Amino acid sequence: MTSNANADLADLDLSSAEMQAMGETVLARVVAHLGALHEVPSCGDFTGIEALCRSMREAVPEQGEALEALLAPLFDEWIPRSFTTPGPGYFAYIPGGGIYPAALADFIADTTNRYTGIWQAAPALVQLEANALDWLRDWMQFPEDARGLFTTGGSMAMFNAIACAREKLLGNDIRAGTLYVSSQSHHCIAKAAKLAGIAHDRVRVIGVDSRFRLRVDELELAIAADRNAGLKPFMVFSTAGTTNTGAVDPIEAIADLAAREHLWHHVDGAYGGFFHMVPELRPLLAGLPRADSLTLDPHKGLFMPYGTGALLVRDGEALRALHSSTAGYLPDNQSEFYDPAQYGPDLSRGFPGLRVWLTLKFFGAARYRAALAEKRALAVWATQQIARIPGIVMDAEPQLSLFAFHLEDPRLGTREAENSATRALMERVTGRGQVMLTGAMTGDRFLGRVCVLSFRTRRAETELCVRQLAEETALLLAEASHAHAAQPAQ
Ligand SMILES: Cc1ncc(COP(=O)(O)O)c(C=O)c1O
Repeated sequence: MTSNANADLADLDLSSAEMQAMGETVLARVVAHLGALHEVPSCGDFTGIEALCRSMREAVPEQGEALEALLAPLFDEWIPRSFTTPGPGYFAYIPGGGIYPAALADFIADTTNRYTGIWQAAPALVQLEANALDWLRDWMQFPEDARGLFTTGGSMAMFNAIACAREKLLGNDIRAGTLYVSSQSHHCIAKAAKLAGIAHDRVRVIGVDSRFRLRVDELELAIAADRNAGLKPFMVFSTAGTTNTGAVDPIEAIADLAAREHLWHHVDGAYGGFFHMVPELRPLLAGLPRADSLTLDPHKGLFMPYGTGALLVRDGEALRALHSSTAGYLPDNQSEFYDPAQYGPDLSRGFPGLRVWLTLKFFGAARYRAALAEKRALAVWATQQIARIPGIVMDAEPQLSLFAFHLEDPRLGTREAENSATRALMERVTGRGQVMLTGAMTGDRFLGRVCVLSFRTRRAETELCVRQLAEETALLLAEASHAHAAQPAQ
């Protein structure tokens, strides 16, 4: 090969016209995709998925291909074979977001590709991220000297919080430290604890009350037992909206106990924290601003794309003490301005602050408050309707925007049969294609759940969800009656 040919191959830059055309091609695909979200199955189409995945294994491509040829199977074959998480009928798990301005912010961040790891490399851009973190801090009514960090999600926020509490309260004496969660806490906490050096045998699981909230009396006993055994209780987790049933733990009472016992109190607000933005909903999360640290998931409650978590730490200096470091080849650390690498584990990183900043500036906080208040109101309305469906027993009213229930009827008979029927109810509604629901094993009961958090979920989809639950419940119970009647008399 001649050196000229090599030089051509080595040129990866694209002309302005090429970039424009590629951008337009992608934009056309994305806009068409978003426009059709109402029409595609909420649960995706998984027909023949394993064979498809096997057939997709491929060697490194030696030669390039045209963009449109790459986008065609992506949009036509592969994206449809996934849960329609940004769709209006997605009430499953904790719905995510995918709000449009955030994607444009990512495009800008990725193409301008400025370095936001250290303040000196892009001070004004880092300031935008600092502003966005300050807004979170203000909504959560944390003090001015609290500091935060955008993470890839709630799990990594938890990891940083545990590392921070461990460093401050245990120093090098890690093995003696014990940490407290409830049986309804998110499983990522135990995983984060392990990553942060707190082994599973130092994680205590506390029971919950009839509303699935951590029992403070049990917590107190567990702390005392660990102290008597010579261990060092150092951290307790409350949840502001559990994943299974949406329970909000008694945050005030846990904060009081944590203060008395000198424990670090972390609140997991991954699902529920952003309801604190809405002043009239704050009483539902009473005590949240007293937390030593708080997990927020903007990819849930702020409707951001996946990959946007956040951590707030009341003692901002403790977060800095954990992460602050430098090297001879870097500029000196400064302390006047927020500096991402001084408050988090990453050095080179993406620019998560821009998606939060641009989207909030574009819509304004008032529209966000309205959207969050609407999701809560829809959940409350749906609960009232669903509780009236014969055969449905409401186990957890929405403390925020998630509620849980099960099927119970003499025709079902046993707990096992009720669990199977509740599971079948979720599957049948989901199988109809417009609404996706999932349940959760909670104790020995399988609970059906509805979580209203997608920004695209409005009244029409919520009514549809209620209607389909009523229809499928009636059908399931009618089938159970036939089965019952067909049983030979004993
Ligand atoms: C209450 C709660 N905490 C933590 C997490 C974990 O967050 P992430 O999935 O962003 O890591 C979740 C995820 O659904 C959650 O619902």
